[in-house]
Amino acid sequence: MRILLFGANGQVGWELQRALAPLGEVIALDRGGLDGLSGDLAHPDTLADTIRAAGPEVIVNAAAYTAVDKAESEEPIAQTVNAAAPAAMAKAAKGVGALLVHYSTDYVFDGSGDQPWKENDQTGPLNVYGRTKLEGEMAIQQSGCHYLVFRTSWVYASRGHNFIRTMLRLSAERESLQLIDDQHGAPTGAELIADITAQVIPKVMESRERAGLYHLASAGETNWHDYASFVIERAREAGWPVKVSRSGITAVKSDRFPVKARRPLNSRLACTALESAFGIFRPDWRVGVSRALREILACENLGARQ
Ligand SMILES: NC(=O)c1ccc[n+]([C@@H]2O[C@H](COP(=O)([O-])OP(=O)(O)OC[C@H]3O[C@@H](n4cnc5c(N)ncnc54)[C@H](OP(=O)(O)O)[C@@H]3O)[C@@H](O)[C@H]2O)c1
Repeated sequence: MRILLFGANGQVGWELQRALAPLGEVIALDRGGLDGLSGDLAHPDTLADTIRAAGPEVIVNAAAYTAVDKAESEEPIAQTVNAAAPAAMAKAAKGVGALLVHYSTDYVFDGSGDQPWKENDQTGPLNVYGRTKLEGEMAIQQSGCHYLVFRTSWVYASRGHNFIRTMLRLSAERESLQLIDDQHGAPTGAELIADITAQVIPKVMESRERAGLYHLASAGETNWHDYASFVIERAREAGWPVKVSRSGITAVKSDRFPVKARRPLNSRLACTALESAFGIFRPDWRVGVSRALREILACENLGARQ
């Protein structure tokens, strides 16, 4: 199987390079491209030629404009990368008969209620990022190509900047921390997303009627305050120089932290469709977070010794 991967250096893209490798030849492109193939989603007009030249059976798009607050003032580029580029990929995928795998977000929903969102629930993005991501997934669905779109939430990885690393740094610097406790969702590891993608692709290649839109998140739920407390307490147990005390981590509501882009309060995703279509078991969010934390701490300790 020949697989063309876009966004190879992002959190999910990096893990996909590993997880997709046993399926076949992976042509991994970052925005700089490779051997005359363009990986830059800011230029959607170049993507059809790249796809035709690479001749993949599967195209996996892990690239996205993910700067949620910045997108409020940079809508044109967010729209190009998150909507126009996936639309161009979908058209080209249909042309060459390839399966297109793409990722979307809980931010397509308005965050109302307290029930996990199902795939066919009414969307209603609150910010530019969510609107452009929704436009991208709709363009794929309307293109007539075979597709898998995974909506996921609160993505982290042991590599790169993310919430776990930020909490480690702040917990060592500050005596008190305030964190939001009214946004609910499931932190989902890039590793898990990549592994599930690699499990599902062969099944969809065998029976294409199983292609479609699926929610993909870790099991369980939390909020940012409890997520941070979990990370910091585990780090304290592991010997990380935590300055903040347990009682110094306080919970506040979202309106205490004004940000450019409004976030949904309810980011829970119902993943039963994915579980039943592909026999997937989803581990609790604490399993992946604990593992990523151990990896990050091991790197930090190594760095400190060098
Ligand atoms: N992060 C989250 O919390 C979250 C939540 C829900 C859904 N998702 C979705 O999950 C998918 C993977 O996200 P992630 O967390 O892996 O994001 P990420 O770590 O921010 O990676 C995004 C990748 O896209 C690349 N990219 C941005 N603009 C590009 C362009 N013009 N051309 C080519 N590549 C470009 C970035 O490249 P550079 O490194 O060169 O900038 C980066 O490697 C995305 O579809 C995202 O919308 C993410």
